[in-house]
Order: sequence, then structure tokens, then C-alpha cells
Amino acid sequence: MHPETAVRENNAPMPGRATRNVPYVDFAAQYRSEREELLACCEAVFSRGDFVGGEAIDAFEEEAARLIGVRHVIAVASGTDALILGMRALGIGPGDEVITPPNSFVASTSSIIAVGAKPVFADVRADGNIDPAAVAAAVRPRTRAIMPVHLTGRVADMNPIMEIAEKHGLAVVEDAAQAIGSRYDDRMAGSFGQVGCFSAHPLKNVNAAGDAGFVATDDDGIAERLRLSRNLGLADRNTVTVWGGVSRMDTLQAAILSTRLQRLPRIIERRRGNAALYRERLTGAVFMPPCRPIEFNTFHTFVVQTDRRGELQAYLASRGVGTAIHYPIPIHLQPAASGLGYRRGDFPVCEAQAGCILTLPVHQYLSRDDLNYVADEILSFRAI
Ligand SMILES: Cc1ncc(COP(=O)(O)O)c(C=O)c1O
Repeated sequence: MHPETAVRENNAPMPGRATRNVPYVDFAAQYRSEREELLACCEAVFSRGDFVGGEAIDAFEEEAARLIGVRHVIAVASGTDALILGMRALGIGPGDEVITPPNSFVASTSSIIAVGAKPVFADVRADGNIDPAAVAAAVRPRTRAIMPVHLTGRVADMNPIMEIAEKHGLAVVEDAAQAIGSRYDDRMAGSFGQVGCFSAHPLKNVNAAGDAGFVATDDDGIAERLRLSRNLGLADRNTVTVWGGVSRMDTLQAAILSTRLQRLPRIIERRRGNAALYRERLTGAVFMPPCRPIEFNTFHTFVVQTDRRGELQAYLASRGVGTAIHYPIPIHLQPAASGLGYRRGDFPVCEAQAGCILTLPVHQYLSRDDLNYVADEILSFRAI
């Protein structure tokens, strides 16, 4: 099971006590609202029989490129593949260092390891995104790239990050997995760096029925290398120009993603409205990083910071409210990271947040009553 799907276990209310069930995600509601469109996607792809490649892939790539405001989108098999192939297309590999935050989903760091480069962590700020001052301090002779992560749907502070990259001649690989449709300084997430890497995992705001991802780029050469590397390096049916693997997006997923892209403005509106309601009700009860005017946050997740996090999560579960923690163990403290040379205490902001963050349900199928119920329960917990 994908570890992020495991949060669904928290959807189950404790029997007998909850007066309402507020699931962290609601795939059943999504299916109910989109059934006809989804069945039409299946009908179209199955009747054409173009299960690999084909017109649905081309259409999705064009629509996503238009939305993000880049010349090319290349559809791939997952967000992790988007990061790996994106970095390979930039020539990042052994001997290179890539600066990234330690508080992301593990795929940000594991993709750096997968291309043979070394992750170098830089701490985050109160909003959970990488701190440009820490990035500047982490630049060393072997640094090749910066990988900011637009965590929770909030774009990292890209103006200073792009300045650092320019000053030192570094590439920028945006991990925009959680940020489709997000903006910063009137530019779309994924359009700042040489490559912007997106996930369409089922838990993302634009989600596939399985794994899928895509890379945005303005660079024709990078786009060409990505198209080859996702498809065994095949320039045509019989000509292999470079060695590659199979990292193509399934055509059926592309068809589904095209229909869901059309719904994105409404999804974002709902999520932003939900976040505003929480902010109105919960200010003073929990810490919610404020949104700056330069940001247009799409609230892939709604993360609050609070002491007694564990107790609050258990209390909410007993009241039928599903929650999650993104992420409880910073990447530099994971067993797999032991060879990287980091210790507890190296990234104090990230480490402190790991102990106090809690992700509330914010999805587009929540009613105002659901949201008010969650807020009421948090306020009653605070009063205990
Ligand atoms: C920040 C971040 N980076 C990378 C990924 C990897 O995406 P995927 O699961 O589609 O491989 C995800 C999501 O799962 C993510 O949230």
C-alpha cells in the first residue's frame, strides 16, 4: 500500500461515540460525482484500444502545459518518476549535490539518491517550506541543483530561491507534486525551474486512478530527452537513441486526468473556502501558518501545528474525524538516511514541526457542517 493511502485507516470512526464521520479523503464521493465522465473515459480508451500512448496522452499534455504556462508537459508513470527523469534530463548524477528540505514525502530525497546524486538538506521556515537563507548556506562546490518542495500546495519562496540558483549557476527542480494550480507572484507552480515535477497520485488534487505524474518544462531539449527516457529511448518503433526505461503514463490515466483538470478551478475554490473556514474558526486554538499576499495556496493539505498533537489526533479519531501527519519522521532521521551523516538537532524547525503538525481533512467533498464539526471538536478538545 502507498504509505499516503494508509491514512485512510484513520477514516474509520470509533464505534459509538462519534456523531458524524468526516473522512480524511472521500474517494466514494468523488466517484459518485464523476461516475458518468469516468465511464466515458473507459469507453473511449477501450474502444480505441490505445492503452499506451495515443490521443488522450497528447490531449492531457497540451491541457496541463496550458494550465501551467509552459511549452511542454511530459506525462510519466508517477511523481517519483517525474523527479528522477527530470533530474536525469538535466544531467544530474553521481558527484552532484542537490539541496532539498528534510520534511517532504520521501520521494523528493529518494529520487535524488536514485539518480546517484547526494541530497543536502536545508531547514524550513514556520510555513513548512524550505528556508532560502538555509539554501544559501548549504551551497557548496558540488551543488548542482536546488529542489524546493511546494509542501501542502503552498509554493516555496521562489524569488530568493531563483536568485540563489542564478548567482551560483544551479538548476532548479521544483517538486510541485502537491501544488497543481498553485501560484506565487502570479506564476504557476512548476514554471519556475528548468523542470517542474508533479504527481497525480490518488491523494493529489488532480488525481489518477492509480499512479501517474508529469514534468513541465520550457526547454525543448529537456522535453525531447524526457520523451525518449520515459519510453526506452525509442525515437521511433525501431530506433533506440539512448538507454531508457518504461516510465509512461497509462492512457486511461491521462483520459481521467483530462476530465479532472477541467474540474480543478472548482476543486481549488472549495479547498480554499474550507481552509478559510478553518482559519476563521481556529485562530488562537492552533497555529496555522498565514498565507502571504504573494501566495495562491491550493491547500492540497491543511496542516495545523499544536502541542498535544497525539492526544488531539486520537480525540478527533474518537469523534469520527480522519486526520494524517505529513510527515512524522523527518527524512534525515529515517533509517535509510543513516549514511548521509545527519543527526537529530541538525534541522530544528523541521524536527519541532514533525512533533506538532496535524493534517485536517480539507477535501472538496466536505460540507460546511463537516468543517464546523471538525472545528467544534478541536475547540472542545482545547477546553478539556
Ligand atoms: C512532495 C511529494 N513529492 C513527490 C511525490 C511522489 O509522487 P508519486 O507518489 O506520484 O510518485 C509526492 C506524492 O506522493 C509528494 O507528495
